[in-house]
Amino acid sequence: MAEVVILPDREAAGMLAAGAIAELVARKPDAVLGVATGSTPLPVYRALTRLRLDLSRIRAFALDEYVGLPLEHPQSYHSVIEREVTAPLGLEPAQVAVPGDGPIEAASEDYERAIAAAGGVDLQLLGIGTDGHIGFNEPGSSLASRTRIKTLTEQTRRDNARFFAAVDDVPRHCITQGLGTIREARHLVLLAFGDEKADALAAAVEGPVTASLPGSVIQLHPRVTVLVDEAAGSRLVHADYYRYVYANKPDWQRL
Ligand code: F6R
Repeated sequence: MAEVVILPDREAAGMLAAGAIAELVARKPDAVLGVATGSTPLPVYRALTRLRLDLSRIRAFALDEYVGLPLEHPQSYHSVIEREVTAPLGLEPAQVAVPGDGPIEAASEDYERAIAAAGGVDLQLLGIGTDGHIGFNEPGSSLASRTRIKTLTEQTRRDNARFFAAVDDVPRHCITQGLGTIREARHLVLLAFGDEKADALAAAVEGPVTASLPGSVIQLHPRVTVLVDEAAGSRLVHADYYRYVYANKPDWQRL
C-alpha cells in the first residue's frame, strides 16, 4: 500500500518531499532525481532551495516535454525545468536531462538509455492530471509503456491552457516517460493539491489498477508516498486510516 499523508497545505507537502530528497542525497550524494513540471512540484522545489543542500553530484531527469514547441519557448519543459529546478537549485545544466533533445525519431530511446546509464531514478516526483495521467501517460497508456510520443487529451490541453495565451497554443503532442519507465524508479512520491485532483487521486490510490486511470499504476510499486492537501484527499475512502497510520508512525520509519 502506498503511504498516504494528508497535510494542511501544499507547502507542508513540499517540505516533507524536500526532506525525503535531503535524506536520500545525504545517503547517496550522486542520487538520481526524477523531476516533474506543472504547478504541483513547485512547493517541493521551493523547500529544496531553502535547504541549500550540496547537490553538486546529483542527476535529474524530467518526465516529459511538449512536442512541437521550440525548446526555447518559455513554456517548453526545457525552459520550465531550467527556471524552476536547475537555476534555483544551482545545478549545472549538464546534471539535468529533459526528453526531446535531438531528432525526435531517436529521442525516446536515447532518453531511456540515458536514464539507464545514470543507474535509474532513485526518487521520482509525480503530479497527477485531472484525467488520471502521470507523466503525460494519458488514459489507455500501457502499464508497461516506455518513453515515447503521445497525443495529449483535450482535457489535458484545457488544463494546461493557463500556461499559454490560448488553448489552441497548447501543443497536441508530447514525449513522455512510459508507465513502465516510471515504475522502475525506486521511490515514487506523488503529490496532488486542490479539489480538482480529488477524483483522479482517489481513483489512483484506491480504485482498480487500470490503463484507463494511468496513475493507478502506482499500486503495483513497492514504495510509494502520496502527499496531498485536504482538498485533494477529500474523496479518499480510507482517509481516517491514513491519518491514523501517519499519526502512529514509528520514529525509525522514514517516508
Ligand atoms: C508534468 C507531468 C504531469 C503533471 C500533471 C499535473 O511533468 O508529468 O503529469 O504532473 O499534468 O499538472 P499540474 O501539477 O500543473 O496540476
